[in-house]
Amino acid sequence: MTTREPVLSAPTRGLTATEVREHPWCGPADRMPTRYRGPHGLGRDGWVNFVTRLERGEEVAIIRAAVADNRRVLDVGGGTGEIARAVAAQVGRCTAVEPHADRVASLQDSGHGVVDVHPGHAESLPFEDGAFDAVYATWVLPYVDDPERAAREMARVCDASDPGAKVVLIGGSPDNELVSVLNEVCVPLAGEEPDHQGYLLATAAAAFADSGFGRFSLHRTEAALHFPEPSVDERVDAACAVLGDFWYEGHPRVEEMREALRPRVHRHFRHRPHAIGDQATVLVARPGTPS
Ligand SMILES: C[S@@+](CC[C@H](N)C(=O)[O-])C[C@H]1O[C@@H](n2cnc3c(N)ncnc32)[C@H](O)[C@@H]1O
Repeated sequence: MTTREPVLSAPTRGLTATEVREHPWCGPADRMPTRYRGPHGLGRDGWVNFVTRLERGEEVAIIRAAVADNRRVLDVGGGTGEIARAVAAQVGRCTAVEPHADRVASLQDSGHGVVDVHPGHAESLPFEDGAFDAVYATWVLPYVDDPERAAREMARVCDASDPGAKVVLIGGSPDNELVSVLNEVCVPLAGEEPDHQGYLLATAAAAFADSGFGRFSLHRTEAALHFPEPSVDERVDAACAVLGDFWYEGHPRVEEMREALRPRVHRHFRHRPHAIGDQATVLVARPGTPS
């Protein structure tokens, strides 16, 4: 994984949960699903191969900027810990919750600040009410069993009586190239409903508002998977393997998915020869209601 200097989009200001739902960076509301499709699988090797190709763009900088004035910070679903380590290096300490033992182990390998890791799930966070003044989860809600409960838990452990407190989510935006390709090719082969991460952000916003975090801003950020291989055939091979294994490692139809991805990925590389975008929306929830 690489990072680069931030080029922050101008954030929106002072949105309500309803405005979050209707905003083009989440919605449009009339095309949102009416229920959660259920969690994606996230294979061990599939995720590692994905992260190796991922340039996070300004994601790390956005989280660091969001928690710059906070001291008790929780990373929910920290994965292999890139962001938790960056936060710990800035704040001195970052607590992380992660259900997968192998990922927790790599979080604990941190040499930059203290990353205090707890095995656990977002839906049942092992902390007291108001234990943190900033709680964030990057690319986690599409993998949990119950996103609304996870959002309520994130708000519960964040201290709404502290005016500087915030809960922050990063998820895919409606123009996310990677999600579009997977929705078009792999999701139907798996017989699943399409992914819609704006729906998850809007669902979380409603739960945050109910829990005292009712002032929202949205940001846009760019991330991408990179395919530097000079030959297009090599790039297509690599992309089909990475994309197929991302959500469907070990799935009985994964070989079929990889083959079905070939023409779609080939077409994509005609327009964007060395990258597949992982465009994201950042939701920041603060205590109170919009004035
Ligand atoms: C796509 S990864 C993102 C990891 C990390 N936040 C990042 O941005 O690199 C999703 C993470 O969510 C974790 N996860 C899955 N179910 C979870 C749950 N119920 N509660 C908390 N984390 C969960 C996975 O183990 C995985 O590490």
